[in-house]
Amino acid sequence: MAAYDVIFVGGGPAGYTGAIRAGQLGLNVACVEFRGSLGGTCLNVGCIPSKALLQSSEFFHHAQHKSAEHGIKYQKVEFDVAQMMKRKDGIVSSLTKGIEGLFKKNKVTYIKGKGTFVNANTIKVATMDGSVEEHTAKSFVISTGSTPIELKAIAPFDGKDIVSSTEALCFEKVPEHLVVIGAGVIGLEMGSVWLRLGSKVTVIEALDRVLPPMDAAVSAEMKKILEKQGMEFMLSTKLTKAEKSGKKVKVTAERDGKPVTIDCDKVLVAVGRRAYTDGLGLEAVGLAPRKDGKLDVNHHYQTAVANIFAVGDVIDGPMLAHKADEEGVAVAEIIAGKPGHVNYEAIPNVVYTWPEVASVGMNEEEAKAKGLNYKTGKVPFMANGRARAFGETDGFVKIIADAKTDRIIGAHIIGPNASELIAELVIGVEFSASAEDIGRSSHAHPTLAEVMKEAALAVDKRSLNF
Ligand code: NAI
Repeated sequence: MAAYDVIFVGGGPAGYTGAIRAGQLGLNVACVEFRGSLGGTCLNVGCIPSKALLQSSEFFHHAQHKSAEHGIKYQKVEFDVAQMMKRKDGIVSSLTKGIEGLFKKNKVTYIKGKGTFVNANTIKVATMDGSVEEHTAKSFVISTGSTPIELKAIAPFDGKDIVSSTEALCFEKVPEHLVVIGAGVIGLEMGSVWLRLGSKVTVIEALDRVLPPMDAAVSAEMKKILEKQGMEFMLSTKLTKAEKSGKKVKVTAERDGKPVTIDCDKVLVAVGRRAYTDGLGLEAVGLAPRKDGKLDVNHHYQTAVANIFAVGDVIDGPMLAHKADEEGVAVAEIIAGKPGHVNYEAIPNVVYTWPEVASVGMNEEEAKAKGLNYKTGKVPFMANGRARAFGETDGFVKIIADAKTDRIIGAHIIGPNASELIAELVIGVEFSASAEDIGRSSHAHPTLAEVMKEAALAVDKRSLNF
């Protein structure tokens, strides 16, 4: 029995970051986590392992298809899936252990086990060693994250051939034919990994475009580029069934009212994630998730029970690690009596395909739907010296600014290193920059970042190198 100021339930980006911040602020803090390692989905079975595999597969793809242009020839390029997986697992394990070190440094108690509320001040933890303990706290933060959505009725997960992203990160060999359900972030990232390693990849998407929430120009460009790489898309197509049939998986879908059938080796179902609060004992404190599984909170992240807060994927907003960790910090500050705050207008969104996609703020359709008076500047990487030297000229930067104030309201990049380049425009949005501010800032030459400057100048129809 211990009495804490605050206990974070869930040790993913929201929970572990919040716990560290609470420790920094002098609170007596604990974090309950039952996975056996800290870091949540992101570190264990999401962002980090997928990026490790994306990097390895991109190196292979580069050696095979792009190095000859640079005058580099390999006699034979081979890959070793087991070594890729070993490297990926090593990265995950060192990073998750790193969080344990950060917990010690910031005096956060790590409680290993599954937490269930007993009442609004007490949680019962079934620990990993089989015992049950109770811990009390003045405040709790629910940071239990999310889990892949399963299409139970038509394509139940079997952990081997009809799988979620978790298993698609661990295939022991390259599937001959992988069918991906959902042309969202996971579908395109994991589809890219296996495509580069030699799989035939077919993506089935219910809507009429890839990456549906992204700016339409970016979606169209992404589809074109991935098709050039060999990815096949069946848009406006809805999955109706996926089932084992001998050694294969038979996938049936519906397009224009007609059935389509594909025999493949593996099916990755990537149709979104749902908030995870299973077994948390919400009923014991009088809380209930909404129909979509999420918890309602006020602007201080308080649930209907004043001393129980919630942050990350279990509440509204994009299911992104960096949104979750900002909320973790904000809630720790609020609990410590400080003015914690997250600026949701300045949360970047990234897709780690190659080229990468990154955006912040509104897309053009949203600006149009809101009736905003806006102007846009769009410049391709083709016009940039560094992109030419890099040998990566696909894509563009598009900046959307308010027509009257010139304030940047959205920025969209598809191109090399977009995930890093977007940071400049996120800072721009955070500091209410105008397009002219970016256009008048000196950008090192030659850099990919110059395309941001050119796109900002293009908002006022005065780009210099395009
Ligand atoms: P998503 O919401 O990005 O995409 C799911 C897609 O599946 C949508 O395009 C939807 O129209 C389609 N779909 C739904 N039901 C379908 C059906 N029956 N047949 C065909 N298509 C169907 O979800 P995803 O890719 O599973 O990712 C889940 C979450 O994880 C997202 O919220 C994302 O933000 C997060 N994530 C973020 C990453 C990043 O930041 N790079 C990487 C991976 C995941």
